Amino acid sequence: MPSKPDWNEGRAREIIGGLSALEGATLPILHALQDEFGFVDARATPLIAEALNLSRAEVHGAITFYHDFRSKPAGRRVIKLCRAEACQANGCEDLVTKLRARHGLDADSQDDERLTIETVYCLGNCALGPSALVDGELVGRLDADRLAGLCDGASAEKAQIVGGAA
Ligand code: FES
Repeated sequence: MPSKPDWNEGRAREIIGGLSALEGATLPILHALQDEFGFVDARATPLIAEALNLSRAEVHGAITFYHDFRSKPAGRRVIKLCRAEACQANGCEDLVTKLRARHGLDADSQDDERLTIETVYCLGNCALGPSALVDGELVGRLDADRLAGLCDGASAEKAQIVGGAA
């Protein structure tokens, strides 16, 4: 995954200024900052509040309400594990249980420099679930061994089984 630039107040002000005239500018600004830096740095909060004439608490509330926004950089590998209905029917909760038992990892709680695991709800790959997005690549028919390999840094391509049986 390509690395993102470090926090830069000037660049953040440019991004905020470029979007602040939009109606409902808070979310577009937060998305743009996260696209630029990989997360929404706490130092952006007062800049957004000032530009949009909001309180810092209102901006902070938006950041924490939407689970899409990160308050710190993601790990080098990001696994977004689908836990919506069709993937549940295909055993995704079993994967979560094994992840916990075998590796001590938990969806949505593992977040360090190496690895981020997040829950998502439907990746549009329901027929081939359990599904995950691994560094942006869709992986279907995930099983516990492939998920363990992905957590250890195996390539998403290797873990993918295209249209075949698990
Ligand atoms: S429910 Fe998991 S991809 Fe649709």
